[in-house]
Amino acid sequence: MNNELFDLSGRVALVTGASKGLGKAFAVALASAGADIALHARNIDDLKAVKSLIETRGRRAEIFYTDVLDKACIDDSVASTLETFGQIDILVNNAGVNVRKPVLELSADEWDMVLNTNLRGYFLMARAVVPAMLSRGSGKVINVASIFGAVALPTQLAYASSKGGVMQMTKVMALEWAKQGVQVNAIGPTYFETPLVAQLRNDPERYQFIVDRTPAGRWGQPEELAGLIIFLASRGSDFITGQTIFIDGGWTIW
Ligand SMILES: NC(=O)c1ccc[n+]([C@@H]2O[C@H](COP(=O)([O-])OP(=O)(O)OC[C@H]3O[C@@H](n4cnc5c(N)ncnc54)[C@H](OP(=O)(O)O)[C@@H]3O)[C@@H](O)[C@H]2O)c1
Repeated sequence: MNNELFDLSGRVALVTGASKGLGKAFAVALASAGADIALHARNIDDLKAVKSLIETRGRRAEIFYTDVLDKACIDDSVASTLETFGQIDILVNNAGVNVRKPVLELSADEWDMVLNTNLRGYFLMARAVVPAMLSRGSGKVINVASIFGAVALPTQLAYASSKGGVMQMTKVMALEWAKQGVQVNAIGPTYFETPLVAQLRNDPERYQFIVDRTPAGRWGQPEELAGLIIFLASRGSDFITGQTIFIDGGWTIW
């Protein structure tokens, strides 16, 4: 095994939604492979805790206030990141929300909030970060999709629509930037135990439905995403682009 393939020393990763849940796990995993991390989210106290966690692993982490619903805020915080670190090699588009409601109960505002965070936010982040990657001729964009980009359940209208959009966005971005050294891929997780799904975790019937529906017979743990995020951020995946890799204990097999 050539570990240099997966070594991220000297790389800078910008992770959105890094304050908790999967984003926190992605940030810690990338730091464990050697990357320095730009932590983006709105909750500064939560970000401070993640920053300490990364610093105890010997890597640099800096905090940037970013609301992905606000284009001006994105542009400012990406500019500050480039000023602070000098470069961004890896963009992890992860900040996301969900509103679970039957189609006819979902309001237009709820739809807009989910789509604007999960889809428009990814587009605007990429729009701000990728030009510098293209100028340098290298970069990795990793979009966090979901199994619900490919399969469906009732009450997931806005969320599934946004994640299907993320998978398509990943393909278009990959096509446009493939010749310029920027790879764009997506991760499609199943249910992982994070605050986003706290309501489902606390509902014994729903919790068990997810266990029973998953061929592996359990939920995912955020630390289990480490191998995939490091792989997609590393030289080891340089000829892979436009793909969504599901990490789902087999959910999308059937
Ligand atoms: N957990 C799962 O089972 C699961 C499964 C499949 C896919 N995913 C995807 O994984 C990603 C992370 O989910 P999670 O489970 O980690 O959720 P989470 O624990 O609720 O965390 C969501 C993150 O997104 C950030 N965020 C939300 N709205 C934002 C905004 N307007 N501007 C900036 N940041 C914002 C939050 O930060 P602040 O509140 O500090 O801003 C937080 O860091 C999402 O894209 C989600 O769809 C999760």
